[in-house]
Amino acid sequence: MRSYRIEPAAGPLSGTLRAPGDKSIGHRAVLLAAIADGPVTVTGLGAGADNRATARAMRQMGVEFDRRGDELVVQGVGLHGLRAPAAAIDCGNSGTTMRLLCGLLSAQPFAATLTGDASLRRRPMARVVEPLRRMGADITGDTAPVRIRPAAGPLRGIDYALPVASAQVKSALLLAGLYADGATRIAEPGPSRDHTERMLRFLGAPVRAEPGRVTVLDPAGWDRRLAARSLAVPGDPSSAAFAIAAAVVAGGAPVRVRGVCLNPTRTGFIDALRAMGADVRVDGAGERGGETVGDVVVDGRAAGLRGIEVGRDLLVRCVDEVPVLAAVAAVADGETWFRDAAELRVKESDRIATTAAMLRAFGVEVDERDDALGVRGRAGAPLAAADVDAAGDHRIAMAAVVAALAADGPCRVRDVANVATSYPEFADHMRALGVTLTEA
Ligand code: S3P
Repeated sequence: MRSYRIEPAAGPLSGTLRAPGDKSIGHRAVLLAAIADGPVTVTGLGAGADNRATARAMRQMGVEFDRRGDELVVQGVGLHGLRAPAAAIDCGNSGTTMRLLCGLLSAQPFAATLTGDASLRRRPMARVVEPLRRMGADITGDTAPVRIRPAAGPLRGIDYALPVASAQVKSALLLAGLYADGATRIAEPGPSRDHTERMLRFLGAPVRAEPGRVTVLDPAGWDRRLAARSLAVPGDPSSAAFAIAAAVVAGGAPVRVRGVCLNPTRTGFIDALRAMGADVRVDGAGERGGETVGDVVVDGRAAGLRGIEVGRDLLVRCVDEVPVLAAVAAVADGETWFRDAAELRVKESDRIATTAAMLRAFGVEVDERDDALGVRGRAGAPLAAADVDAAGDHRIAMAAVVAALAADGPCRVRDVANVATSYPEFADHMRALGVTLTEA
């Protein structure tokens, strides 16, 4: 079981980083390239284990990949070119791999089984299995293993209102909808990330957004081909959030993270940090491959960070950044509340419980509710030096490193191996900014 040892920040951090490729967009790039109509060059793909799990799954179904330096050439086989996998597909720790594949595999003429690690096997799959069955899929498993057999007939488009905003479920239904008779229409209660829609449109699929958070895929008149266009994966805001938050806590002199995806469904943590009084700005933003990309800069140290309320739409827009925002809240003045946050309980860990436990280890007062988390900030006073268990959750491990910068002595964070699922360069990047972090 790997661990980090971190020294408190001796002064402001400084330096320039390039964020690793966005994990969400990386999954979609590999998967859609694999069913595109010919070879697709993907640049900027992250090296994390989760994206590799998606690539491995597609390889098991006969898709070939050629690495050429920083580029990955995916030999797209077309919508109907996948082959039956010889064994169960292991999605590792990756919920996105499993849920997106549920949608894609529901429409294939072969059987497949999806499984994963102990954390993934505990996560809810009924939310995706149930609407896929309504589309005519033959799919079972409220938790993994999920078993999929060829459907009795063509899938049917669905008109579905998601009970909880979820990009993974929306994407699974859109992928199944590529193969279905009739339109697929999905309504959402909140602004979940829309990378699948953007990339499908970029590859020529008939996807449109309608008012009231409704996404429609209407294949009428479409030739059911995805164009073999090159895909560029921008930097991951959810990974960049750790360097940015570290610079907010320790000061930035300055810290710049280049090439970050600034899709408005992903920038909730920047809005939250600004509302707390942090000096975070965006520089040089422009459009690339259907996504907005730019640098995020932290210059100076906010004199007085203050607690805020994060709920509803803002919570959806920073759903993966709650652990690190909670670490920043711990050094702010006043209380911060994350509300409407029941979804956090079914992430890679129960993140209401694991974030609360992580902050308690640093001596922070927290209030844990069924669907909310309150953090009482220590108003700039140091946190207690801690020995923290990251519970195998990559984002808890990295958030704990950010909190440790504000501690009154060296800290240890245990069970950090899963940082490699999303951000294998994390420890190197922290050191490059001036953090004293050793690995054991
Ligand atoms: C993701 C969607 C989010 C997010 C996850 C990645 C995606 O989950 O938490 O880390 O790539 O679609 P939900 O769709 O379940 O909200």
